[in-house]
Amino acid sequence: MVLMRLGSGLAAVLLAILLVHVSAVSAQTVVGDSIAESLSHSAGDPLRGRAIIVNRQQGLCLLCHNGPFPEERFQGNLAPELGVSVGSLSAGQLRARLVDPKHFHPDTIMPSFYRTEGLTRVAAKFSGKPILSAQEIEDVIAFLLTMNQTNSSAAVITTTAP
Ligand code: HEC
Repeated sequence: MVLMRLGSGLAAVLLAILLVHVSAVSAQTVVGDSIAESLSHSAGDPLRGRAIIVNRQQGLCLLCHNGPFPEERFQGNLAPELGVSVGSLSAGQLRARLVDPKHFHPDTIMPSFYRTEGLTRVAAKFSGKPILSAQEIEDVIAFLLTMNQTNSSAAVITTTAP
């Protein structure tokens, strides 16, 4: 009797672990053309996102894109202007495109910012690590949403934090 109770308790714990695991994985799965669930527990910070985007070691976005970043003198011309790329994409659609750009454009030169599997020729330093952390992805999304062209409250942040 005691053993049976112990057994069902154990089963419940195992089930809970399994569920947590499955939801952690599915959070990164593109459904339709979106990843609906946030990758992190706290909301994205648009100012931090902006700093990541202009950072040449971190986001690298301006290597290819250009945008409303007046303090940045050299910006890329290998990709559309960032506001054009954002277009009217929602948070979930942007998340999917940052996590897995190849899902949308198989030959894209845009790196997968939050994927560690299925990548080839990754420098040892970055092996097994995403380019941006979950929170950094959410920060970048928060900033990109300020560029969303159908967002009436959009006011692109054009200055850096004081
Ligand atoms: C190495 C070049 C490169 C870098 C770095 C890069 N992008 Fe891109 N990005 C592209 C290109 C090229 C496209 C146009 C579509 C395509 O060919 O993938 C694109 C498309 C996009 C799109 C639209 C995707 C779609 O499917 O419509 C978004 C949003 C975007 N980029 C955001 C970013 C952000 C944010 C960063 C930095 C965190 C970034 N990109 C870094 C090259 C780059």
